[in-house]
Amino acid sequence: MLTKDIDQAILSLDKEDVVVIPTETVYGLAGNAFSEHAVRKIFELKKRPLNNPLILHVSELQKVYALTKEFPKKAKVLASKFWPGPLTLLLPKKDIIPDLITAGKKTVAIRIPNHALTLSLLEKLNYPLVAPSANPFNEISPTNANHVMKYFKNEEKIILDGGQCEMGLESTIIGFDEEEVIIYRLGAITLEEIESVIGKVTLRNVKMKDPNAPGMFLKHYAPKTKAILTSNVEEFIVQSSDKKIGVIRFDKPSDDNLSDRVIVEMTFNGSMKEASQKLYDYMHYLDDLNLDVLVFEKLPDIGLGKTINDKLFRATS
Ligand code: TXA
Ligand code: MG
Repeated sequence: MLTKDIDQAILSLDKEDVVVIPTETVYGLAGNAFSEHAVRKIFELKKRPLNNPLILHVSELQKVYALTKEFPKKAKVLASKFWPGPLTLLLPKKDIIPDLITAGKKTVAIRIPNHALTLSLLEKLNYPLVAPSANPFNEISPTNANHVMKYFKNEEKIILDGGQCEMGLESTIIGFDEEEVIIYRLGAITLEEIESVIGKVTLRNVKMKDPNAPGMFLKHYAPKTKAILTSNVEEFIVQSSDKKIGVIRFDKPSDDNLSDRVIVEMTFNGSMKEASQKLYDYMHYLDDLNLDVLVFEKLPDIGLGKTINDKLFRATS
């Protein structure tokens, strides 16, 4: 059920039910982090393996302190700059956090999201919310309530409708090893923004199946339709034997003479911001058209373009 009433969401969460919440990045499937019932239900609904840990969401720094053992100096600098916002920190967890959430890891992923509705919900709760993206495992993340309803149409659950997600890409995940700052997932905060605050960081958003970074699976965010990533869309279309092609381009549309096989083409008008906000929405749309192949154009490999290229690379792997 769609609603903007946070009190209704609270009633449901207090009963250990799962509720869908909006954030500035993507929608999340949320539950009381201290309810084993709710946490298991989330894994089950997402069809997510239990070795893939969840992110905690809270409304303020005091609550982060209550859940973590240490808060490295550089983490504090990043938190004060980017929270509330699309930054997830991996911090040593206190024992009160169930191992189920962290898949047995000693660190917990935690963030303060920047969405008015969800922040006021979190302020009223005396427990943190776990919230993975509200999509089945490995599918495209939802950036509005319609995407969520498509995935969970048979589930009776409360969906807090917070409109279209402002950023449209997941949070950037950062961990710490002594003095080293490590990016484990490129996201809505760019590498350049992080480095301008903290200096050089290590990028370790692995492109392999690495058991130490369970969430960084190569294949991810994937449409069901066959999809490819290329710097030369027109060449691909000319050579392709597929008949029904859907295209997403960064700045300009393709030549008219290709139009007999391109069923739909969308562009981001050369805007990184627009690309970030609309990428998943376009992917959802194209994936529902039953085309033969989706062709994504590589973005310039800077700023949000770097994040988006990483998502597209995984979507087409
Ligand atoms: O923007 C976001 O972060 C969204 C919104 C809803 O907040 N949430 C989200 O959650 O993207 P999810 O579960 O789809 O992705 C979280 C990623 C997973 O890949 C998971 O493996 C990783 O974070 N993760 C969680 N805890 C971790 C930990 N302790 N160490 C390493 N990776 C962790
Ligand atoms: Mg996800």
